[in-house]
Amino acid sequence: MKRVLVTGAGGYIGSVLVPKLLQKGYEVIAVDRFFFGKEKLKPVGDMLNIIQEDTRFLKAELLREVDFVIDLVAISNDPSGERFNEATWQINFQSRVRTAKLAKGQGVKRYILPSSCSIYGFQETIVDESSPTNPLTTYARANERAEQEILPLADKEFIVVVTRLSTVFGYSPRMRFDLAINGMTYGAWKTGKLPLMRDGTQYRPFVHVEDVCEVMIELLEFSDTQKINGQIFNVGGNELNYQIGQLGQIVAHIVEELTGRRVEIEWYGDPDRRSYRVSFNKIYETIGWKPKRNAEYGVREIIHKLEEGTVEKTIQTITLDWYTELEKWYKIIKEVEMYGGILNVS
Ligand SMILES: NC(=O)c1ccc[n+]([C@@H]2O[C@H](COP(=O)([O-])OP(=O)(O)OC[C@H]3O[C@@H](n4cnc5c(N)ncnc54)[C@H](O)[C@@H]3O)[C@@H](O)[C@H]2O)c1
Repeated sequence: MKRVLVTGAGGYIGSVLVPKLLQKGYEVIAVDRFFFGKEKLKPVGDMLNIIQEDTRFLKAELLREVDFVIDLVAISNDPSGERFNEATWQINFQSRVRTAKLAKGQGVKRYILPSSCSIYGFQETIVDESSPTNPLTTYARANERAEQEILPLADKEFIVVVTRLSTVFGYSPRMRFDLAINGMTYGAWKTGKLPLMRDGTQYRPFVHVEDVCEVMIELLEFSDTQKINGQIFNVGGNELNYQIGQLGQIVAHIVEELTGRRVEIEWYGDPDRRSYRVSFNKIYETIGWKPKRNAEYGVREIIHKLEEGTVEKTIQTITLDWYTELEKWYKIIKEVEMYGGILNVS
């Protein structure tokens, strides 16, 4: 039986990935601060070991007898990366480099770094893994630095793979409505209005969360390691490069079909010239993987979950808002401690 250590395991991707790994018979060590709650991880059998720990201080012993590491931990979007700039460098870059080095030192066989297509920034042409990058935010720059420091650790004994993920969509127990397709679907379903940035012809790449988890597991299991070691793979599908207007139409039509209510698209802003399309040929040509789910699938799935009440939009589903709230509470607790208790304000 193989043992996988997953960091950021209680997050949007982690809480879908961990049950999939358990179902496939892996033993999982799930490391997270659990900012979004521990209950998001549903144990399957007794093969899940939950460790509430900050990855910046991860103990080397935890990596002993671990076969694989999937290092999901991050402050996970652009606005949070700007607001919590220093923490983003520490977690997304330094902590992941440290974990990769510790993993190599402990004899871990494979390490996967989930990076992001956002490091391409905005470009005129269709970009692939060999295209120049153009990281425009702290989040994107920290991902790029992590890639640059971690890829050279690859050798015959330590397989390193970088996955540059498209923007993810779909249902997860730690739901995120700050991701484009999820947020658009919620807004149209809840209010009947769908704000879209003009002029709608701009392209962005997307991928469903279940597909992300499935490709991570395939990369753990892919036997011709020479083909993937030290490699970067864009994760998504060529046909999942959507134009924003096209995406708005998809969301509006499905919400109308499923609820019988009208959805109005409301255009705003000046035409957004920042368009980029990504090629996903390399991952298909190397390991034969393609995503199975498209935007229509994700929109229907989310509406179904909303209608049955499995998911709601709360402050926890907007990453920046939740971290800002936690910081506020942390300050209040510190103040209470300083005065020796809530009532001792002398
Ligand atoms: N979701 C996307 O669209 C997307 C796109 C591209 C790349 N990615 C990458 O995938 C990874 C996971 O993203 P996600 O959407 O699941 O994010 P998420 O915010 O839902 O999950 C991140 C998890 O990390 C935990 N965490 C944060 N700081 C920690 C620390 N110091 N120690 C321990 N745990 C800590 C949080 O509690 C959270 O559970 C990230 O590396 C992200 O950059 C995501």
